[in-house]
Amino acid sequence: MQIGIIGSGAMGSGIAQIAATASHATLIFDNNPGALHRSAEKTAAGLEVQVQKGKLSKDEAERILGNITYVSNLSACSNCELIIEAIVEDLDIKKTVFRELEMIVSKTCIIATNTSSISITSIAAACETPDRVIGIHFFNPAVIMPLVEIIPAIQTNEETLKKSCEIIASWGKTIVKAKDTPGFIVNRVARPYYGEAFKIMEEGLADMATIDWALKEKGGFKMGPFELTDFIGHDVNYAVTESVWSAFYFDARFRPSISQKRLVEANFLGRKSGKGFYDYAEGSIKPEPLKNETLAVEIFERVLVMLINEAADAIYMKIASPKDLETAMTKGVNYPKGLLAWANELGIEKTVSILDGLFNKYHDMRYRVCPLLRVMVEKKTQFKFV
Ligand SMILES: NC(=O)c1ccc[n+]([C@@H]2O[C@H](COP(=O)([O-])OP(=O)(O)OC[C@H]3O[C@@H](n4cnc5c(N)ncnc54)[C@H](O)[C@@H]3O)[C@@H](O)[C@H]2O)c1
Repeated sequence: MQIGIIGSGAMGSGIAQIAATASHATLIFDNNPGALHRSAEKTAAGLEVQVQKGKLSKDEAERILGNITYVSNLSACSNCELIIEAIVEDLDIKKTVFRELEMIVSKTCIIATNTSSISITSIAAACETPDRVIGIHFFNPAVIMPLVEIIPAIQTNEETLKKSCEIIASWGKTIVKAKDTPGFIVNRVARPYYGEAFKIMEEGLADMATIDWALKEKGGFKMGPFELTDFIGHDVNYAVTESVWSAFYFDARFRPSISQKRLVEANFLGRKSGKGFYDYAEGSIKPEPLKNETLAVEIFERVLVMLINEAADAIYMKIASPKDLETAMTKGVNYPKGLLAWANELGIEKTVSILDGLFNKYHDMRYRVCPLLRVMVEKKTQFKFV
């Protein structure tokens, strides 16, 4: 089966490599010849590193590269049975490309988008056959991250969904299904990890080093929220938060942080620019956390209950199944535990009590408790997710 990838940037290049590794004849198109050239060089160099490390044989690397063809004409994709678009995050440009694709490919070709933040339904609406359009959302770096969210638009037919799931699972990826709503699963449910941490810092309850330490020490997270957003890049992380917030009609739960906005304005984008919340200049000294156990537990539980509330809301609103939600958060953002398992462990009653305490303190709707959690307290039930 021929696979077409549109856009040879970070995501397109990775997805093309995955498809080629799975033995598909893979075509990758970009309207910028320089980008195509860079993609070819980067993929070859990445595979060479694997060969040098002994993780891949030379023959295998050559086989993968041999399966990828870099094309400068969209019409070369006419025989593809699955096309995954990974171009710039702009609805109008994506719509134009989808319309062009429809004129080239067969009626049965699945046309997917890797968008992080645009509604799949709105992209599908540009097409004459919207029922073959679907979201197939890889995580960065696509070659390494195991999770792929599959998001049917409201127009998508069962056959497209089934076939997409089969193909992506056959590439060795872990798939989860999500409803076409802002942020899908991971980019929605993970928001409080950043937002609540930033708010705790802005209120002066603790400094960033202490918050990072508390979440690693008490929660087992691999990176604290300040370290992690410095790593992701504040331009990228802030853009996702702002897009989820506005797409949810400015719901207070997703309200962005002014401190982070200022970093973006100052071009303090994190590690990639040498400065973010922390300073990465040579010789700079990382601030020390205040290792206070009581404070650490307070910080950790406040962030955790906000994450649990968001996870519960995603279940309540039928965004994903409980099982897929657990998989998404452990494989998409490497959380040490699924949030529903964590809720059971912390206790649903305690979760609700902490959230109610925050609501009473702030009178801010961001702390409103998900109705599902209230019902669970009444009925004394726990989450089931197997
Ligand atoms: N980077 C991430 O972390 C990430 C993660 C998941 C999903 N995504 C999504 O994947 C998509 C691509 O992101 P990226 O980070 O790879 O972007 P990128 O900027 O690295 O690459 C985009 C590529 O698309 C090309 N392009 C732009 N317009 C085009 C057109 N009309 N026709 C053909 N090619 C065109 C550009 O030349 C560029 O090479 C976006 O929709 C983004 O939201 C990104």
